[in-house]
Amino acid sequence: MIQIKNLYKTYVLEDRVLPALQDISLTIQRGEIFGIFGESGAGKSTLLRSLNLLEKPDRGQILVDDVDLTTLSASRLKEQRRNIGMIFQHFNLLLSRTVYENIALPLELIGMPKAGIHREVSSLLDLVQLQDHKYHYPQQLSGGQKQRVAIARALSTKPEILLCDEATSALDPKSTASVLALLKEINSRLGVTIILITHEMDVIKQVCRRAAVLSDGKLVEYGSIIELFARPASEITRQLVQKALHLELPDAVKAGLQSEPDPAKSLLVRFTFLGDDSSQPLISTLVRKFDISINIIQANIETIQEATVGFTVCQISGDHDIIGQALAYIKPTSVNAEVLGYV
Ligand SMILES: Nc1ncnc2c1ncn2[C@@H]1O[C@H](COP(=O)(O)OP(=O)(O)OP(=O)(O)O)[C@@H](O)[C@H]1O
Ligand SMILES: [Mg+2]
Repeated sequence: MIQIKNLYKTYVLEDRVLPALQDISLTIQRGEIFGIFGESGAGKSTLLRSLNLLEKPDRGQILVDDVDLTTLSASRLKEQRRNIGMIFQHFNLLLSRTVYENIALPLELIGMPKAGIHREVSSLLDLVQLQDHKYHYPQQLSGGQKQRVAIARALSTKPEILLCDEATSALDPKSTASVLALLKEINSRLGVTIILITHEMDVIKQVCRRAAVLSDGKLVEYGSIIELFARPASEITRQLVQKALHLELPDAVKAGLQSEPDPAKSLLVRFTFLGDDSSQPLISTLVRKFDISINIIQANIETIQEATVGFTVCQISGDHDIIGQALAYIKPTSVNAEVLGYV
């Protein structure tokens, strides 16, 4: 288990002080795939690099299985770091070394005998399916293959934790899919805890069970992906989710949408359904129970992990007080209602 407690990091620039991380506290469970997302400059890489102390925090604790990394001596930290592998957007391979030699490097550095290195590298080459490329140099490989070499290298010291900073951002969709499949396999077969930064919500949606949202160095919210997607607690998450799920409203609707309440207008409401709930019974119940009319503008269904999440955007007309009562009526249910504006 990784516990981050009240973590702060400030960069001192020439003309100002930049708070890159402010009071971040979160817990990542052993064996999970955990996502970190947020806009550029939010502090994602700073947070990830803090986890192996590549970035030294100003204050706060980083506990890996109850060992606080921030208090370790240089030699103990070096040992602990072997337990935390890392991969990057641009792979960071040594261009003058072959695939085999790149993967062997961390093992050479810890003084492993040649026979042991050969055995380990060979099994890693099998894992990342690059046996046929072991004598090739990085320039002779595709982006996806390079990232698989980087993954094998990161796993060579048998870490329990793998940090991935935008590991698929430089890849085409097919290579992205193959790298994500590999990460999932490493997680399930080897039990490696994976912490993954991405600006692609599609990636988060496919592989992470839980995630954290960062904005301006602060933790906005964190929790299960399904909860984040279905019931974002913050505006930032809401916007990121909308982009990822392509929930943008049709242009004609957007053009007429206003944010100030106007009793003469209808409400535009997005209902989010989890699992087996469906919009049909809900809408007919509301129409039956309350003196309102509901017109469906847009509906789509997403599969997030194994769960189904449905989104239905409706235009609701009638007395606004009564519409308010109708929305309050469904509040205790698992269906989430979000007023998008007035049309
Ligand atoms: N070494 C550094 N020195 C000074 N400022 C830094 C340094 N590293 C990061 N920053 C600043 O700290 C803030 C957070 O940076 P960080 O790289 O963690 O963001 P990020 O969320 O990873 O962004 P991106 O999605 O663009 O990679 C940014 O404003 C960045 O300019
Ligand atoms: Mg970054």
